[in-house]
Amino acid sequence: MVRNKFYVTTPIYYPNDIPHIGHAYTTLAADVLARWNRLLGREVFFLTGTDEHGKKIEKAAVEKEKSPKEFVDELILKFKEAWEKLNVNYDKFIRTTDKEHEEVVKEILQKVYDAGDIYLGDYEGYYCTGCEAYYTEKDLIQEKGKNLCPIHKKEVELLKEKSYFFKLSKYANLLLEFYEKNPDFILPKKKRVEIINRVKEGLKDLSISRTSFDWGIRLPFDKEHICYVWFDALFNYYSATQENSKKKYWPAEVHLIGKDIIWFHTVYWPAFLMSAGIELPKKVFAHGWWTFDKEKISKSRGKVINVDELISIAGVDSARYFLMRETPFGDDGDFSEKALIDRHNNELADKLGNLVSRVAGLIEKNGIEKKSGVFVLKFEKIAKVKELFDGFEFDKVLNEIFEFIDKCNEYIQGKKPWETGDKKVLYEVADAIKTITILLWPFIPETCEKIAKQFNFEIDYKEIEKPLKIGKIKKGEILFKKL
Ligand code: MSP
Repeated sequence: MVRNKFYVTTPIYYPNDIPHIGHAYTTLAADVLARWNRLLGREVFFLTGTDEHGKKIEKAAVEKEKSPKEFVDELILKFKEAWEKLNVNYDKFIRTTDKEHEEVVKEILQKVYDAGDIYLGDYEGYYCTGCEAYYTEKDLIQEKGKNLCPIHKKEVELLKEKSYFFKLSKYANLLLEFYEKNPDFILPKKKRVEIINRVKEGLKDLSISRTSFDWGIRLPFDKEHICYVWFDALFNYYSATQENSKKKYWPAEVHLIGKDIIWFHTVYWPAFLMSAGIELPKKVFAHGWWTFDKEKISKSRGKVINVDELISIAGVDSARYFLMRETPFGDDGDFSEKALIDRHNNELADKLGNLVSRVAGLIEKNGIEKKSGVFVLKFEKIAKVKELFDGFEFDKVLNEIFEFIDKCNEYIQGKKPWETGDKKVLYEVADAIKTITILLWPFIPETCEKIAKQFNFEIDYKEIEKPLKIGKIKKGEILFKKL
């Protein structure tokens, strides 16, 4: 058992199209958390990947006249490329078509079946292929005699087929006890209340197999049936840790997800794990959704922003910064090019960029001299920042750091080292820049690595407490060009 470990996951994405801002959002948040925990010296395992089975993928492949495997093999490259462009440093990319994953899912299905939690029955009800989810009539939107999915607003299918069921109903009380004992399992708190109230209404058994299509994992105890894609997909988080060197990472410290898939992660997932006798993850955090210019993101209406477009506006670090800064992680947010450019100009260029280039320029001209004793410019909020990271309050972390940047800018303005040539004042600000850079690194790694090189320090948490070593400092390139 490793004490100081941190296992973070993103949802595994459906590779039925290229990645957009919604996929990027969770992945970036996971990257920020992974980097922050690495900075603190923890042993981090950051998992992302793709959810490749099911009707939705099969359908998309048929439309492109490809086999599902051929189809996903091409699209997953787009995901890997996007994460590389966004400077996302994951440890493993899992695909549900990986042999190792399929084997684990089969073992678990057999185990749950042997435990008596799976039985054969008939399913009759609604299904949305977009969500890959079952719906009851009361969940649906009725419009012009049609039953529409509440998320996709598209007509749902009426299914009638033989199906194996998972005894979810048996787990309602066990889940409620678990939520009670683990108040931080479902986050943010407002979502926890919603889930608990719904579970209290009782749970129906869940259909976990299909016979009307082919693309999925066959049940080990009945080869006529394909495993329900969510049962298959959820176990990615576990199967990824089943090779020997990774076993130590289970259970996950946190699964980051979007609010639309919270039910799968906080009800089905823990119930499946309980049934399989596997330890449960510590936390599930559901973030909000982005709209685009105040409208729902939708490909058909051209209201979608993919990763390349996102980066092309103001660069990678500005995109990363914007998404983490603009709205609290658990709330919905609105994306607009203008809002991104405003933050790029007003915060990254005018505040951070300006501070760094001004101080480096002044040092190049006047020199720098080590100062000891009491520093006026000390960042007093480290404990607060840690607490905010623990609560997934990325926007507030950035707020604290930028308040300190403001303080640094005011300090220079007051001390006027361009008039006095005071080398000790410059040392003090350079040392503050070190702290700022190390703390900002999880958010804007590329920029911070440039600053660290320019000011001769390492991106290492321990460096915050150590005085800056004196080295050659030059003005350097402009970090954020104003747009
Ligand atoms: N394959 C499932 C997840 C299985 S996890 C075991 C899935 N995939 S998805 O590709 O459809 O969506 C993945 C994530 O993108 C979800 O967390 C969803 O919330 C997120 N987003 C999709 N659109 C979004 C926005 N407009 N804004 C923010 N996140 C959004 O669901």
